[in-house]
Amino acid sequence: MSLKLGDTFPNYKFQTTQGEFNFHDWLGDSWAILFSHPADYTPVCTTELGAVAKQAEDFKKLGVKLIGYSIDTVSSHEGWIKDIEHYNGLACGKFPYPIIAGSRKQAADLGMLDPDEVDKAGLPVTARCVFVLKDKKLKLSLLYPATTGRNIAELLRVVKSLQLTMEKKVATPANWQPGDKCMVIPSIKDDEAKKLFPKGFETAKLPSEKAYIRLTPDPSS
Ligand code: BEZ
Repeated sequence: MSLKLGDTFPNYKFQTTQGEFNFHDWLGDSWAILFSHPADYTPVCTTELGAVAKQAEDFKKLGVKLIGYSIDTVSSHEGWIKDIEHYNGLACGKFPYPIIAGSRKQAADLGMLDPDEVDKAGLPVTARCVFVLKDKKLKLSLLYPATTGRNIAELLRVVKSLQLTMEKKVATPANWQPGDKCMVIPSIKDDEAKKLFPKGFETAKLPSEKAYIRLTPDPSS
């Protein structure tokens, strides 16, 4: 089973660095990001988990709960967190989010294994997956191989886009940042768009003469 957009994330009982969680209870109806890494005590992962920790307050401001995941034990995670804190200049003993000690079966079920990266036993490790959830449902996923670290600013950016586009009938264009113009979604007719977007919208003139690119100021700013 690979998770598709709109699917409910399975309700696992997870062992984590902050205790045992019933995942659905922990999620509630909140926004959340579950992100996996290949293995503890590896270099890129040490930078990624530190970078997420540094921006944990920014995620909190957006109402996003964070949780890491790999197929390592809780005691391995606990030892490694000290390295993450030290290497990334974080306060010791205040690591801001839990890390799950997952299982290979769960990781396989969720399509998280990277066949090109194996552990010492020759078994595939988890890739760098990102599941953005709201109300326990998958809103966005990203899947990077073990060898490419993620951009944490991009995770914040996509959450801002998801939250805006859930509220307003807009979509966000390539490289959008909050405050940039948004696009009126194609299913909205011009008459309705005039009512929905009091700041107005402009329609791009195109060789096809089709009026499908309609830009409106960011309705949240
Ligand atoms: C890393 O985190 O540096 C890493 C982990 C597995 C494969 C390649 C890189």
